[in-house]
Amino acid sequence: MISQESISQIQSRIDIIDIIGNFVKLKKRGANYLGNCPFHHEKTPSFTVSPTKEIYKCFGCGKSGNTIGFVMDHEKYSYVEALRWLAAKYNIELEETATSPEFKAKQLESESLFIVNQFAGKFFSEKLFQTEEGEDIALSYLKQRGFREDIIRKFELGYNPSAPDELAKTADKLQYSKEILLKSGLLVERNNGLSDNYRGRIIFPIHNQSGKILGFGARIIKSNDRAPKYINTPENEIYNKSKILYGAFFARTAIDKADECLLVEGYTDVVSLHQAGIENVVASGGTSLTTDQVRLIKKYTNNLTIIYDGDNAGIKAALRGLELALDEGLNVKLLLIPDKEDPDSYVNKIGASAFLEFIAKEKKDFILFQLELTLKEIGNDSAKKAGLVNQMAATLSRINKAEDFTKRQDYIKKVAELLKIDEAGFNALVNKIVGEKIQKDDFRSNRQSSMDGEVVGEQEESFEQEMLLHKDEPQEQAMARSLIEFGHLEWEDGQKVADYIFKQIDEGELLDLIDNPIIVKLINLYRNLYEEGNEPDAKTFLYMEDAELSQLMLKIMNDDLEISPNWKKYYEGHIPTREELFKQEVDSTLLYLQLRKIKRLIAENQKDMENTSDLQEQMLLIQTHHHLKTVEMELTKKLGTVILK
Ligand code: UTP
Ligand code: MN
Repeated sequence: MISQESISQIQSRIDIIDIIGNFVKLKKRGANYLGNCPFHHEKTPSFTVSPTKEIYKCFGCGKSGNTIGFVMDHEKYSYVEALRWLAAKYNIELEETATSPEFKAKQLESESLFIVNQFAGKFFSEKLFQTEEGEDIALSYLKQRGFREDIIRKFELGYNPSAPDELAKTADKLQYSKEILLKSGLLVERNNGLSDNYRGRIIFPIHNQSGKILGFGARIIKSNDRAPKYINTPENEIYNKSKILYGAFFARTAIDKADECLLVEGYTDVVSLHQAGIENVVASGGTSLTTDQVRLIKKYTNNLTIIYDGDNAGIKAALRGLELALDEGLNVKLLLIPDKEDPDSYVNKIGASAFLEFIAKEKKDFILFQLELTLKEIGNDSAKKAGLVNQMAATLSRINKAEDFTKRQDYIKKVAELLKIDEAGFNALVNKIVGEKIQKDDFRSNRQSSMDGEVVGEQEESFEQEMLLHKDEPQEQAMARSLIEFGHLEWEDGQKVADYIFKQIDEGELLDLIDNPIIVKLINLYRNLYEEGNEPDAKTFLYMEDAELSQLMLKIMNDDLEISPNWKKYYEGHIPTREELFKQEVDSTLLYLQLRKIKRLIAENQKDMENTSDLQEQMLLIQTHHHLKTVEMELTKKLGTVILK
């Protein structure tokens, strides 16, 4: 847990223009800033940032949020990751509450590993470009393979000299810790001393999502039977092979734009495709895809295209990836590279535009590809065909997310056609497997995944009810807004607006009249903070981890942002600001709730009148009705004057 103090410290330092300006080119327009929305494609800017409110809104796609939300959305970070990112940016040391000494030690170790890797990355790059050995042996090799210098620099490729301990000596001089150097895998212990682990190899740094170096892949230059082709960083605090996608840092924007991620096997494939202008590409690093890697991809896009060698090993590796990817709800396409080539050699052979055409033309739906491939293999063997039917049913049962229902039905239809079997029977088989899975894993309630109309009807009904319940929401929000915005101003005689509001709320039991429980939560939270001597404001709630609260706060603040640009067009001269009219606003929101209370009492009273046959009681109820009506009229009149004043 990050401490509240640290969060406040970050909040106070946040400059939304500076942060969003990192990712979007912003131009000042009046009080706000305008740019092209990073979340959807647009030519005329409709992405608005308000520096005073510290929120953004895109009038094109409707996306909006605060600074932390922006960092979360844009960088695909969790709340805590976003806080860490912001803290790093502003050099704020994060205070972690309730962390064990072990956790702290681990964190220290991670930091040290990053530092050592950064140093080594720079060292390798200098050796590649600025030494004779580097240029003659490594740079010339890379250039001969067709890599351009700008691409080599972009991926920060490097060279570890062939002498036994050049890196070791430099690291020693700079007094890096021996323990960390060994953990990082950069050095190894040998004859009582430290020597370089990647001697005479080309270095591929592996970056995390924010561009920091997690580890390295080191490729031998002249292949050699006794030495492995690549030496990779060993597993350590920051390098977990199963969670890494090589190239993700460089591919992110392109993946967003294309809404598709290309997956290849090797480092050189990623670099070559980039050079050819195909940038939405990452590598799994030679082993079969892991669940963690698939989840990483899923953060960026739902569309995965696996590009593997066309040989049997490539297809097998791809098939393993397919199952995992289906489990996570990805749409999987497959592209096989022909003639014993890999993407790197193939793009070099046929050129960038031919390669793009090749992708577009040869990309196959993976499930149907798997089917066609096996159908060809088994020919007319009917026993094997029965096996295939079961296998396909199992594959399709993996598409079991509720929102993918139509997709699965489409597949069932196509597969049944290709297998020449009865569609209804096949459908039943798939459903049976899905059902068994649900029972077995129990990861999903029957309710959610069963698709019958009864459940849908129920949901619709509750939605209607919700709408009805929240039809007064704007007024409730206005009440919360006036509290948060004006609470600290003086009402009269040293009494603050907040004191006044809480007195009114207590006297009229007004909180019970607010239907939206989140607004009640917000008001109560404000009250606690206020009574403890704090001066909460919009930002206090905007940055809360409680998503319900920060969303509500955002909605409240947003309302205003949407209206204000047009205001000015229709008024000449001085427009009274809300600050100038705050007393009226506070009173009108309170009056509105009182009026609501009266209206409810009237309705109840009316019901009672309908239900009684006792004459005396009826008389009483009629009197009450008249009284309530008078109060209602008074309130309405007051409300009218408050609003019209
Ligand atoms: P490749 O042998 O296809 O290597 O292995 P490559 O990256 O295409 O390199 P070039 O083009 O031959 O120079 C694919 C990936 O498998 C991992 C590496 O991540 C490599 O990029 N690998 C391969 C290893 O980790 N160790 C090895 O010994 C070989
Ligand atoms: Mn290769």
